[in-house]
Amino acid sequence: MTAVTDFVHVFEPATEPDAPTLLLLHGTGADEHDLVPLGRILAPGAALLSPRGKVDENGSNRWFRRLREGVFDVEDLIARTAELADFVKAATVAYDLDPERIVVSGFSNGANTGAGLVLLHPGVVAGAALFAGGAPLQGREPDRVDLSGTRVFLGNGAVDPITTIDQARLLAAQLGERGADVRVEEHPGGHGLPPETVERAREWFAAADF
Ligand code: MLT
Repeated sequence: MTAVTDFVHVFEPATEPDAPTLLLLHGTGADEHDLVPLGRILAPGAALLSPRGKVDENGSNRWFRRLREGVFDVEDLIARTAELADFVKAATVAYDLDPERIVVSGFSNGANTGAGLVLLHPGVVAGAALFAGGAPLQGREPDRVDLSGTRVFLGNGAVDPITTIDQARLLAAQLGERGADVRVEEHPGGHGLPPETVERAREWFAAADF
């Protein structure tokens, strides 16, 4: 049983009535404050729920262990994603959030974790805006869950040396094959989040009307 207090987190209530909630998952080495400004841009007026990853990799916060850069401890990813799903459920009760209108956004390690949340725990989030993330289970084929109605924006760099564009395209395919509505935005850069991609994601979020 995971309580909302089990993760260090920032919670900012919605500033507009009937606004959705954005769950923000930071990248390796960042913390719960890192993506709050991005959340305000992506989803103006939304509630922001931004936890801190519990894995300590030489002083850097992460969401799950990795064996080395680009090689994940998939069992740990599965266990940590389940704990995160429980945290989200606890937060919906603690903060009186609409569980049908939670959207995850993450960067890098947070995007991989957000992708895990979508594929392994269907129904926890209604959508996802993931940046510099790839297929989280790496060599394993995710279960054939039904993701129809789930809307996903993927922003990836064509020359990203950490999350290769092939991994990003594999994630897009896995989500699409399970019925998700996937929007892919590839930029010419690397492992970053260019302003144009943020702008495309902001437009996508506004049009998705979560
Ligand atoms: C990961 O470990 O999730 C990815 O390699 C990205 C990173 O955090 O560096």
